[in-house]
This record gives sequence, structure tokens and C-alpha cells, in this order.
Amino acid sequence: MRILVTGGAGFIGSHFARHLAEQGEEVVVLDKLTYAGNRANLEGVEHDFHHGDIADPEAVVRAAEGVDAIVNFAAETHVDRSILGPADFILTDVLGTQVLLDHARHHRLRFLQVSTDEVYGDVPLDAPACTEESPLRSSSPYSASKAGGELQVFAYVRTYGVDALVTRGANTYGPRQYPEKFLPLFITNALDGESLPVYGDGKQRREWLHVADHCAGIELALRKGKAGEAYNIGGQERENMEVVRRILDLTGASPDLVRHVDDRPGHDRRYAVDSSKLHDLGWQPQHSFDQGGLEETVHWYMASRDWWEPIKSGDYRRYYETQYAARLG
Ligand code: NAD
Ligand code: DAU
Repeated sequence: MRILVTGGAGFIGSHFARHLAEQGEEVVVLDKLTYAGNRANLEGVEHDFHHGDIADPEAVVRAAEGVDAIVNFAAETHVDRSILGPADFILTDVLGTQVLLDHARHHRLRFLQVSTDEVYGDVPLDAPACTEESPLRSSSPYSASKAGGELQVFAYVRTYGVDALVTRGANTYGPRQYPEKFLPLFITNALDGESLPVYGDGKQRREWLHVADHCAGIELALRKGKAGEAYNIGGQERENMEVVRRILDLTGASPDLVRHVDDRPGHDRRYAVDSSKLHDLGWQPQHSFDQGGLEETVHWYMASRDWWEPIKSGDYRRYYETQYAARLG
């Protein structure tokens, strides 16, 4: 198959492109190379690269020539940035998805939208994990834009008969994640002896999913999933402070670096998803967060300063100041 991987220069998209190429699939990448896109992530991956925006129909036509399927990873992805400025999230995550869907419609392509467990919003501690039938209750502008993209997918299936489906992945971790997200931010700050800014009480809970297991789940859904369906891809649920303590252990950093700072507005306390529907298709995650997964990730960041040190200068510094300077005092 020839597969268009949009957002393939980002964290999960680049792992997915590598995963497909290793199986002998033909990979085409379309990526706008925003602050989060990095061609170094695709080093050693055989692929055709197109620099462009998924919201630009002409760029999509050029990149999608001859492909059998589109897997859409391209998105604005960081919740804190969506709180600082939601407009770009609508342009890429909603409008961009619709442009890709139009192309899939007119060229009869299979289309998989990579979405997030965040669309379910807060899951109370005593409530069961969300199934694919649970209502969408977005809290952040990011989550609302991802929900908007999903709704476009379901509308195109129903109205135009497009062969499209959605995956809803949990918090993903592993090598080459941009260091604005919790794990790579805390690991790299710990390695540099910088503060670890825990939002609020740090008792929020997330499910941690290794990037290789996330990619395997997306591939399975692409090959075997049904049009018009969503598939949850869950991980192992942990409290944020538990994760912070593990990072301190693994990096040898001082607990004095931990700073409880003003909480994220609208912060969801807990995400939890039921992945039985994907398990029924045959999905079996291979990585344990506590036994190897987090440790290997920390070791990758220890050994890969040449990847993250250049990122953490320039524009990143300006973002960091805006996001954390007042919080850290
Ligand atoms: P990322 O921020 O690392 O990468 C996003 C990529 O999309 C970048 O390469 C960027 O340049 C590209 N991009 C952004 N806007 C674009 C546009 N308009 N046109 C073309 N390319 C564009 O993101 P990630 O963490 O790898 O997430 C990938 C996808 O998975 C996203 O759709 C995200 O919502 C979803 N997701 C992420 C997680 C997670 O924990 N990281 C969990 C579940 C779902
Ligand atoms: O659940 C899937 C989602 O996971 C993806 O769709 C998003 O793209 C991805 O960014 C992620 O969203 P979160 O908001 O859960 O992830 P983030 O890494 O921003 O934060 C994880 C937790 O850590 C959350 O409870 C907020 C907290 N946190 C985060 C940062 C950046 C802090 O306490 N301090 C921080 O500085």
C-alpha cells in the first residue's frame, strides 16, 4: 500500500511512518513543519516528503497522488498552547481534517483520523472507563478542536459514504516527543537541574501508552477497523505525582526541583478509556510503563541531548517564559 501520513514529522507520526516503512509499505509524508515538526525525526525512514499544510487543498492533491489511504496525525497538539491561543487549532484540527476528508471522498480513499481520549473530558474517580459510546465532553480548546475533527469524519461517512474511522489514543510517551509535554519536559528539566512545574496538587491521572503500542493500534484499526467507528487505545493509569517521583528516581535529580504551580485552567482530573473494542480486533500492547517503558524513555533522553538541546533554545524559550515565568515566580 502507498499511505499518506500527514503530520509525519511530529512525534507519533514519525514513529508510525517508520513502522510502516519497516513493513515495506510506501510512505508519503505531508507536514507543515510547525514548531513541533522536525525532519530529523524521519532520519533513516524511506519516504517521499511534501512540505505543506493539510488545510491547503492543492498541497493535499500533490501529496496524495497515487495513495491508497490517508492517516491524519497533523494537528496542533498541546493543551497549554490551545489555552494561550485556540485559532490555529481550529484551522488545522477542524478545517485541515475537512480538507483531507474531501480529498478522500473524491478519490475513494480509506481515511483514519488520529484522535485522542481527551475528547471524553474528565472521568470521575469512581466512574468506569469511557467506551466509544461515551459522550464527548471536551474541556480544553485543543480537545474541542479534536472533537470537531472527529465529527467531520462521522458526518462524511454518513453523508458521502467515505471509508473513514477514528482512533482515540491515550497520553503517549517514548523517544522524540517534543519537550513541551509533561514527560519530556520533566525528564529534560530534571537532567538540567531545572524546576519541575507540577500543575496544582499533581493528583491528576492519565493513561500512559507507549508510542510503539499506539502505532500498532492505529495500524490495526487502519487494516481491520470498520468505517464510521471509533476505537479507544488506552494505556496504564498513573497519578502525575507518582510519575514525577519515578522521573526523579530514574534521573537522580533532587526532589527540591518539584514546584507546585498555578493549575491549568479547565484542567481535567482524570482520563480513563476501555480498549476492549481494539483488543477484540487483536491489539496486544507490548510495553509496560513501570517495567521498562518509562525507564527506556528516560535513557533515550539522557543519550539524545543532540536531539533536544537545540529544540529547547530559541522559540521554545519564548514559549517557556510565557507559560511558566509567572507561575515559577
Ligand atoms: P506533534 O505535535 O508532535 O506533531 C504534530 C505534527 O503535525 C508536526 O510535525 C507538525 O509540523 C504537523 N502539523 C501541524 N499542523 C499542520 C498542518 N496544518 N499541516 C500539516 N502538518 C501539520 O503531535 P503528536 O503528539 O505526534 O500527535 C500526533 C497526533 O496524535 C495528533 O493528531 C494528536 O492530536 C494525536 N494524539 C496525540 C497524543 C499524545 O499524547 N501526544 C495522544 C493521543 C492522540
Ligand atoms: O490524552 C491524550 C492527550 O495527551 C493528547 O491528545 C495531547 O496531544 C497530549 O498533549 C496529552 O494531553 P495532556 O494535557 O494530558 O498532556 P500534557 O503532557 O500537557 O500533561 C499531562 C499531565 O501533566 C496533565 O495532567 C497536566 C500535567 N502537567 C503538564 C505540564 C506540561 C503539569 O503538571 N505540568 C506541566 O508543565
